[in-house]
Amino acid sequence: MARPKIALIGAGQIGGTLAHLAALKELGDVVLFDIAEGTPEGKALDIAESGPSEGFDAKLKGTQSYTDIAGADVCIVTAGVPRKPGMSRDDLLGINLKVMKSVGEGIRDNAPDAFVICITNPLDAMVWALQKFSGLPANKVCGMAGVLDSARFRHFLSVEFDVSMKDVTAFVLGGHGDTMVPSVRYSTVAGIPLPDLVEMGWTTQEKLDAIVQRTRDGGAEIVGLLKTGSAFYAPATSAIEMAESYLKDQKRVLPCAAFCNGEFGLKDMYVGVPTVIGAGGIEKIVNIKLTKEEQEMFDKSVDAVKGLVEACKAIDGSLA
Ligand code: APR
Repeated sequence: MARPKIALIGAGQIGGTLAHLAALKELGDVVLFDIAEGTPEGKALDIAESGPSEGFDAKLKGTQSYTDIAGADVCIVTAGVPRKPGMSRDDLLGINLKVMKSVGEGIRDNAPDAFVICITNPLDAMVWALQKFSGLPANKVCGMAGVLDSARFRHFLSVEFDVSMKDVTAFVLGGHGDTMVPSVRYSTVAGIPLPDLVEMGWTTQEKLDAIVQRTRDGGAEIVGLLKTGSAFYAPATSAIEMAESYLKDQKRVLPCAAFCNGEFGLKDMYVGVPTVIGAGGIEKIVNIKLTKEEQEMFDKSVDAVKGLVEACKAIDGSLA
C-alpha cells in the first residue's frame, strides 16, 4: 500500500517541525508548500538528509506549486504570519485571512479529500474562513488549539504535583485566546479530579488558579521569551497527534476547534470542544454538560470568537 501523503501548507517554524516529526514517526511522505522560494525545498532536503541517521522511510519534497499537494490525505496549514511581542493573536486577522483564501482555494482544487488541520491564528476565525474558502465538508476541516492548550495545562500541573505528565489529563475548551476555558473539573491526575487534589492538600486553590491563568497566557509567555516569533515545537507536536489519530483511525478523544451546528447551542461556528478524531475526520463532538460558571466562561469565549468572525465578514464580503 502506498504511504499516506501529508501536505504542509507553510514551511516556517511550525511547518518545518511538522515535517521533521511526520518523517520521524513515518506517518507518510511529506510535501512542504510555501510561497518563500527555497525555504520548503531547503527544509525538505535537510530533513531528508537526517533520514540515514534516524533510519526513517519517508520522501520529502519542497514546492511553490499547489499541484504537488494533489491527492494529499492530510493538509496541515500554518501559512501566514506569527505574533511578535505585544501583539495578540487577533492582530493577525487581516493578513492571515487573505492567506486563508489562497490556501483554501489551493486545497479545494488539489486535495479536496484531505483531512485539514489549521494552525494559523487567530485560530477559530481562520479555520472557519478556511472551511468556507475551501468548501470541504466541515467534519474534514478542524483547528489545532485545544491539544496544545491542554498540553500546556498538563505540563504545568505535572510540575506542580511532581508526577509524570503521562498521568495528568486535562482539557481546555473555548476559543484559542485569552478567554479559553481550562476545565478544572474534568482535568485529573490518574482520574482524580483537580478539585479533589486541592482538598487532599496536593496544591492550593491559589496555585491552581495561577496555573489556569498561566495556561491562558501560555502562547504569550513563549512569544515574550522568543521575541522573534511564536511557539512551534509544541504546536507542531499537537497537530501531529491529531493527524495520526485520523491516519490510523485511532478515534482519540481530543479537544480541537470543530464546526458546531447545534452542539453546545452554537450555530455555524468553530470553537474548541472535545471531539473524536478517526478515519471519518471529526467523527463526534462530545457535548459535555457545563456548570453555570463554566458556561459563563465558555459564552464569553464564544463571544470573542464571534467578534473575530464578524471582522472576517467585514473584510471579505464573500464570507458574509
Ligand atoms: N501561502 C503559503 N505560505 C505562506 C503564505 C501563503 N499565502 N503566506 C505566508 N506563508 C508562509 C511564510 O512564507 C512562512 O514560511 O507561512 C510561513 C509561516 O511561518 P512562520 O513565519 O515561521 O510562522 P510559524 O511560527 O510557523 O506560525 C505560523 O501558526 O501558530 C500560528 O500564530 C501562528 O499564524 C501563525 C502560524
